[in-house]
Amino acid sequence: MTERTIQLQDVVRRKAAHLGPRGEEWLAGLPALVDELARRWSVTVGPPLSGGTASFVARARTADGQDAVLKLAVPEYDFGGQVRTLVDADGHGYVRLLAHDVDQHAMLLEALGRPLGEVDVPPEDKIATLCATLRQAWQVPRPPGPAVDPALGLIELVGTLWERLGHPCSERVVTQALTYAERRAAAFDLDRSVVVHGDPHPGNTLRVLTPRPGAESGFVFVDPDGLIADPTYDLGVVLRDWGPQLLAGDAPVLARHYCALLAGHTGLDEKAIWEWGFLQRVSTGLYALSFGADEMARPYLETAELLASPDHV
Ligand SMILES: Nc1ncnc2c1ncn2[C@@H]1O[C@H](COP(=O)(O)OP(=O)(O)O)[C@@H](O)[C@H]1O
Ligand SMILES: [Mg+2]
Repeated sequence: MTERTIQLQDVVRRKAAHLGPRGEEWLAGLPALVDELARRWSVTVGPPLSGGTASFVARARTADGQDAVLKLAVPEYDFGGQVRTLVDADGHGYVRLLAHDVDQHAMLLEALGRPLGEVDVPPEDKIATLCATLRQAWQVPRPPGPAVDPALGLIELVGTLWERLGHPCSERVVTQALTYAERRAAAFDLDRSVVVHGDPHPGNTLRVLTPRPGAESGFVFVDPDGLIADPTYDLGVVLRDWGPQLLAGDAPVLARHYCALLAGHTGLDEKAIWEWGFLQRVSTGLYALSFGADEMARPYLETAELLASPDHV
């Protein structure tokens, strides 16, 4: 019987509980798993880190005194894809992976600093940093073989959740999201696709503690999804955020401005970025609602209402 108590963020606990028995089992086994991994990887586990939504993350120290970070993910995602991306990246655009156990959804990571989300600079500067870091991250070699376009999964997710949750946003919004998803699916081209991050928001973008090759922007990503997609998929995720700014100003004008910046920094297609951005806004809002994170969902769905209009089709 372990003595360890685990401080877990509410949103993570809710996400695990939402998975049913598999998630409950994960929650119950977490203290023992932390102990086992601490022994196996010869680390002392320190205080937990907040900011994520699907993992227990804590500072750790290796036997030779190096700082590291232990991450145990809720058994929900394709964790193998996350590990593969970090192994293939070898520190370029991404956190370095020190040890991992795919079956236990566990990894030991290079210790990083504060997230870009906590840096006090305007959105335009964050967008520039995200684009520079993404350009580095998109260099990860693409595994051989076919790939499934994530637009197809989003079509399914948006349609199903909108019905199941009792139409929590307007039909106009959901129709526009599905139209954009179908357009992105029709445009899918494996030759142009890369290993995308999948969720490159400022909370997943952390400062490196000392400058190093592969982190020329000063930041690297954690928490990749391991998807193969058009690189504009990631830019759509970046465009999806900035809820407070959009809700405080002229949302369509500001969102167009951010979209133009994303296209300008990367040389990629503005229309594709806009369409992915709208789709991501709606799918993330619905997904957050589906596990009870209503506060998180609200800005996504409110801004979607403001950005859905015939001129944006
Ligand atoms: N290597 C790291 N160094 C420092 N902080 C980290 C590291 N990895 C994750 N974190 C912190 O923990 C949070 C959650 O980690 P993340 O991998 O994004 O998990 P989640 O799946 O829960 O989003 C991050 O937003 C960040 O604040
Ligand atoms: Mg994260």
